[in-house]
Formats: sequence, C-alpha cells, structure tokens
Amino acid sequence: MLHRRSTAESYEKIATVIFDHSTKAAVALAKEVRDLIETKNKAGQPAVLGLATGSSPVPFYRELIRLHKEEKLSFKNVITFNLDEYYGLDTDHPESYRRFMNDQLFDHIDIPKKSIHIPDGKVPGDQIFDHCRDYEAAIDAAGGIDFQILGIGRTGHIGFNEPGSSRESLTRRITLDRITRQDAAADFRGEENVPRFAITMGVGTILRAKKLVLIAWGENKAGVVAKAVEGPVSEAVSASFLQDHPDARFFIDSGASHELTRRKLPWLIGPVKWTPQETRRAVCWLSSSVNEPVLKLTDEEYNEHGLSDLLSEHGPSYELNIRIFNQLQHTISGWPGGKPDADDTFRPERAKPYPKRALIFTPEPQDAVVSIGATIDRLVEQGHEVRVVSMTSGNLRVPDSGVNKFASILLEIASTIAEGWSEQTDYARHILQLLAEKGEFGEDPPLLRQLKGLILRGELRDAAQGLGLAQENIQFLDLPFYESGRYRRFRTSDEDTSTIAKVFHEFKPHQIYATGDAADPSSVSALCFRLIEQTLAQCQKEDWAAACSLWIYRGKEKALATHEIDMAVPLSPNQLERKERALTRYHSLTSLERESPKLNQQTAQQYDSLGLAHYEAIESFQRWRRT
Ligand code: GLP
Repeated sequence: MLHRRSTAESYEKIATVIFDHSTKAAVALAKEVRDLIETKNKAGQPAVLGLATGSSPVPFYRELIRLHKEEKLSFKNVITFNLDEYYGLDTDHPESYRRFMNDQLFDHIDIPKKSIHIPDGKVPGDQIFDHCRDYEAAIDAAGGIDFQILGIGRTGHIGFNEPGSSRESLTRRITLDRITRQDAAADFRGEENVPRFAITMGVGTILRAKKLVLIAWGENKAGVVAKAVEGPVSEAVSASFLQDHPDARFFIDSGASHELTRRKLPWLIGPVKWTPQETRRAVCWLSSSVNEPVLKLTDEEYNEHGLSDLLSEHGPSYELNIRIFNQLQHTISGWPGGKPDADDTFRPERAKPYPKRALIFTPEPQDAVVSIGATIDRLVEQGHEVRVVSMTSGNLRVPDSGVNKFASILLEIASTIAEGWSEQTDYARHILQLLAEKGEFGEDPPLLRQLKGLILRGELRDAAQGLGLAQENIQFLDLPFYESGRYRRFRTSDEDTSTIAKVFHEFKPHQIYATGDAADPSSVSALCFRLIEQTLAQCQKEDWAAACSLWIYRGKEKALATHEIDMAVPLSPNQLERKERALTRYHSLTSLERESPKLNQQTAQQYDSLGLAHYEAIESFQRWRRT
C-alpha cells in the first residue's frame, strides 16, 4: 500500500528546481556562475569551473557569452575542466568536445587558452593511464572544482560514466553504451561512425567538486531524471550518486520533470485539483499499478493508493470507472480526418468539412513516416487532401557513402548509356573530389549538403509512395536555420517562420499534424515545433486558423502515455506491415527509428491492459492546447 507523504522532498533526494523554460534555468545558472567568478575575483583567487558538453548547456553558454559581451563579465581569472572527450577524434573534428567548447564558448570569451583543460582524445593507448592521472592532478593543483555543471545522458551517465561506473571511479577511458551511441548517431551521420570509447572524469572526480548543478531539458530526459533524483543510489544510474553530495542540485525544465512523483503522482504528495486530465491520469495509473482493467477498479483500491480524495469528489468507483473508460474508448478512431456523415459528438475529430486538407509537418524527412506513417496512409485512403511538408532537408544525417553511391552511378550511366553527359560527368567527379578533400570527418561543403538533401527527398518520396501519397503532395522547405547550422547548435530566424507562413497561406489546412513539443529544446524537432507555434500565433486572426485542429504526435524515443492520448488510430497487422515496408525505403534510419513500430505495439498493449479492445498497434495523438 502506498502512503501519502507530506512534501515532494520526501521523494526527491536531490534538491530539484523546475523552471518553466530551459532558457530561464540557463539564466539562473549563469547568474550563479557569475557570482562565483566575482566573489573569487574579490578574494584574488581563480574560479574553477567544471564544464559539460551536449545540447543541454548550449543556452547556458549563450548566456555566459552575453554576460561577457554585454555586462563585461571577464573570464581571465577562470580555470575550466571539461568532463570528457570522445576517444580517437582529432581536436579539430567537428564533433570533438574541444571543438564544441571552442565554438560554443571559449572563442567568444576572454579566457586564457592555458586555463582550459579538456581530456585529449588522441592520446596514444599506452599513455592513457598517465594522461588521466595528470588530469586528476591538474584539478587538484587548481584547488579542486568550485562549480561543476553536468548534463545527463539517457543511460543516466554524468560525463561519460556509463552504467557500472563506481562511486570511486576516476578519470579513465570508458566504452560507450549502445544508447549513448544511438543518441549521438545523427551528429556522426550514423551510429557506426560514433566513437566506441571516450575519456571521462570519473564519478569520484565529479563528486569532489564543491558544488554541482545538473541540467536536463525535455521529456525524453524525464525518466532518467526521476531515477537519479528519486531512485536508489546505484551504479546503474551514475547521476544517482549525486544524492550523496552535500551541494548538488538539478535544474530542469517542465518537460524533464514529468516523471517526478510531484508531477506524475501528485496525489501521493498533497491535495490535487481534479481536472479531467488529472483524473484520467490517476485512473490509468491505478489500473496499471494494480494490473486490473479500469472497469474492475474498486473503492478499496482507490483508497489504498492515495486516491480517496478523487473518490470522494468523483466516485463511487463504479461511476468513475465507467466515465474514464468511455473517455478512453472515445479516443479510438480509425478516422483521423473525421468520419464523414457520422455523429461526431464523441469522436476526436469533427466530421465536417469532408474531405479535409491535412498538413503533416515532418521536421526531418523521415520523422512523420516513422511516427505516423499509418495515419498518413489512412488519411490518403479516406480521401483527404494530404500534404506532407518536410521542414528541413535532414542532410546532416546522410552518410558519405550515400553520396559516393550516387556519384558513382551517375559516372557509370554517363560512360555506358548516356553519351554526351559531360556536365553530369563533371558534376559527379566534382562531388567525388569534394568527398575526398573533406576526408572522413570533415564538414560538408554546401554542394555535398545539397546532394545529401536530394537523396533524402528521394527516400521520402519513395516511402510516401508506399503509403499511397503522390509526389506532388510532398513539399520540401529546406528551412534556412538547418542549412546553415549543425546539430545542437542551430539558431532560427524570421526567415524560417515566413517560409512556414507561406505554406499556411497557400494550403489553408483544416488539420495540422506536428511533433517536437516535448523534445530537448535544441533538437531539430523542438525548433521546428516552436517555429510552427510562432507562425500559427501570427496567423491566428485568419479564418482558416480559427477552425484548424493541431494534432501532436511524438517521435521515436517515447510514445504518448495513455492518459495523454486524445486520438488513438488503431492499426491492423496489415496496416502495420505497410508502415514497416514504407520504413524500409529509408537508408539512413537510426536503430531507434527502425524500432518505432514496436512503440505503436506497446501503446496497443497498454490500451488492452486498461480493458479496451486489443489492436495490433496504435498511432497516438494529443490535441494541442494553447498555453
Ligand atoms: C554526452 C556527454 C554528457 C552529456 C550527455 C547529454 O554523453 N558526454 O556530458 O550530459 O551527452 O547530452 P545532451 O545534453 O545533448 O542531451
């Protein structure tokens, strides 16, 4: 039986501050760092900072740069130690952490080069031990780390301390976990190119810091944040060791807080306002906790699980169960565009107008097919006017081998079939030359990025054809923010929103499907979603916008939880197979993306356990609620 406790802290074993947006957290963190630097300066001592890489610290670094440029914060008296570095990468490799730190921070502030310390990813194998020992000694010689900034990987790692790292571990070489390599796949244009090893400070090294803040954004981090903050201290989640540190805190955004007890199960902590969403969440949770379908939940089970409040407001259980069961039942619809000529009182989408203009945004060319391929299939089959809009070209994820293959085929055609293709031959040779010049890890010049984008266009057209969608219904925006940036470091502009606005004005959708609301804010999908939101806000007075519904779908990492679903599109085994077949048309899918049909099957199993019909798979959607 679960007993109600009085405060969130009784569950949270690390002080956790939830900010409504990551930029606010970044500003608060930068202010603390600034205070430290200034206090140390006054005392005539250097401030020693431990720094992290990844997307999470990017807004924090941007704020530090702003403080330097606009408010004259000097870093002359700062010494830094970075947590880790990929092993085997040259320092100027675009994905090396040294390069990342230079681009994101060091090149924009006045820190002396000699004060920067980052493990050397190219140290020869027989010198790794000495290098790591020297790194530890350098930290001690600087007086220890005053303030350590940390991110968290999905395996729960801090630095690169993968599961199994002991509390006492020191700086050393480590083998990267499969999940970590999956997460880095896009950066390296494919999992196979992600380094297998890294040099990282150990857990013991990190815990020696006097003060630490771990930052995490987006719902994809919510599960691991909850494990670290509320779970047992364990080598399985190295961030959980922070529970034993006297001055460690988590700064997280609202998305990353979703799995904390105070957010997920607030009724265990204190009084709850029983909104319809909260009620549905509680009932779904109870059903899965006691492993009983919704209609079989009893008054006793509600009471024993901290839900007596809910019963007294909305009970008895019999009536509450039926109400929630019906709500869940009404989310199921095989008619994502609305069922023409049917009573739509309890259907997720309105019946009229029919047919509808459905606009499907895919942040990169593969995302929509991976996440909602079968719904696209349905919409087309049910006679709606479907337009798939690929927001970015996705070219950064295409491996060089794709370009090589294309150029080689072109050369072969020119030499065997197509006489007089001299321009094409020149083009293909030029491409091959560019490939050779930039080497395995060099940055792609614009011509290569362009060709990689075209290859993905071909893949999307091919996959969409498998779903019955004609070529002319696919539009490629190649949003400028993506074309001029790299993963984790993009910056959007008005040019991006005006490109999206043109699509709205021209197509005037009745329905929009989009993703990215809950993702890490620096990810392509989150940036794309924010652009859609901004553009919609600009268009809100237009007739089409007032009547347009916006359906959120989730990407590959995490499906919507059952209580969050407003529309569940069930798939038969054949429909799932069609989606799987469409996915095989993509060559550059990550293993997570390839496995996405499994998430659809899991959602179907969850509906089954709640006592609803058991389908082969379900694609799920949440209605967008303006905040
Ligand atoms: C890498 C880094 C970690 C970082 C993690 C999360 O694994 N070695 O230090 O915390 O990525 O990165 P992101 O902030 O991009 O999610």
